[in-house]
Amino acid sequence: MISPDQLPRVLHQAADRPLTLAQHEEAFGPMPPSAPSLEQLEASGLTGRGGAGFPTWRKAKLIRELRGHNKFVIVNAMEGEPAAHKDRTLISANPHLVLDGAEHLAGIVGAKHIAVCVSRDNPVMVNHLQRAIHERDRRSMRGATFELHTPPWRYVAGEESALVHWLDDNESLPQYRPRRPHILRIGHAPVLLDNAETCAHVGLIGRYGGDWFRRLGTPSSPGSTLVSVTGAVARPTVLEVALGTPLHSILERAGADLDPQALLMGGYGGAWLDARHLDAPYTNDALGPLESTVGAGVIIVLPRSGCGIVETQRIARWMANESARQCGPCAFGLPAIAEDLAHLAFDARDAAAAYERLLDRCGAIEGRGACRHPDGVVRLVRSALRVFAAHVEDHVRGQSCVASRSTHHYTSVPTLEREEELIWE
Ligand SMILES: Cc1cc2nc3c(=O)[nH]c(=O)nc-3n(C[C@H](O)[C@H](O)[C@H](O)COP(=O)(O)O)c2cc1C
Ligand code: SF4
Repeated sequence: MISPDQLPRVLHQAADRPLTLAQHEEAFGPMPPSAPSLEQLEASGLTGRGGAGFPTWRKAKLIRELRGHNKFVIVNAMEGEPAAHKDRTLISANPHLVLDGAEHLAGIVGAKHIAVCVSRDNPVMVNHLQRAIHERDRRSMRGATFELHTPPWRYVAGEESALVHWLDDNESLPQYRPRRPHILRIGHAPVLLDNAETCAHVGLIGRYGGDWFRRLGTPSSPGSTLVSVTGAVARPTVLEVALGTPLHSILERAGADLDPQALLMGGYGGAWLDARHLDAPYTNDALGPLESTVGAGVIIVLPRSGCGIVETQRIARWMANESARQCGPCAFGLPAIAEDLAHLAFDARDAAAAYERLLDRCGAIEGRGACRHPDGVVRLVRSALRVFAAHVEDHVRGQSCVASRSTHHYTSVPTLEREEELIWE
């Protein structure tokens, strides 16, 4: 059995294959006969690990209060963020812990269906989840039925309303929601949707309780969390750390460059953080005032030899291509932002004007999409202009920027194509 205070908690792996149901129960003990109470979930202070960091108990309470049992729990294992590998690492270690959490959540809200969603473009994950669901005879102890769904991969496919749209109508397009919180529905059935890692933590809270969960982390950000570290690292890695761990300790454990220029926190839709803040604790509370975020649990390390403007331009171009092209400000605004960044980075004659255009475009695009995809790009770009102000000045003056003057080997932030070539633990 795992000891309550040891790390890893959710990333427990005995072999190079996912734990079978029997191995899982040997490591974590049998599934308790009843689901944790909503109060226990609230006491744990667990927040979502899919990006927004919303309190898990509050989402569950909203769905529990609705009448009827024709409800869905959706496990979001899509992991669309290109620099994130935490959900696939978790599922490759122990898919049953994720399914336990989904069962508990179904028990709390009174759901009859548990839909586990994973991209069909990741056949290894599909296989792990298929086997685990099969081992449980597709049924949960709480009377709900497991179903596996495999939408095609695209960045926005993991956005919650896009996933519900897929289950409802076979279309991976985000839906416009006038008010939030907005209850998502499949047909008339209300939906509780949680990230795969969030479910795994619920699986442990169901066994050991909310107070146990709080033994790690800080009072306002309790528990442990998975973090994918990539960029200037010896080897990209996924770690489980206590929330509140200083950033430099995470970099040290990951074997990363300990004197970086900046960190891209949260993923492609996250925000750059100047390396002066490496003492900051890894929590949204601490990173928020620095205009950064834990986001989807990603840290991309930018070495001193890199140019943050050039890297941001590449990411923005990739994000522009991932727009679902339903909303004008996103469909036309994101390519324009990518174009302006390219002018800022590579066209000395237009760099100053491109900088001004970027500021205007960010203001015009923010909050004007049906989903938060364009807001993520705006946050990324604003953080780049702030954190890499010295590079911006160099580009505007038509000088070669810090990066091109550096004698260091230039290691750029991985793009999706390059990510796939990297080997993950
Ligand atoms: C463009 C976009 C893409 C997203 N992709 C994912 C994803 O791949 N996986 C995920 O868990 N959440 C993703 N999210 C966040 C989900 O919409 C949702 O907030 C989350 O899955 C809720 O789970 P949590 O409360 O456990 O964090 C995405 C959000 C946006 C705006
Ligand atoms: S904001 Fe962009 S990604 Fe989101 S629904 Fe609109 S067009 Fe699609």
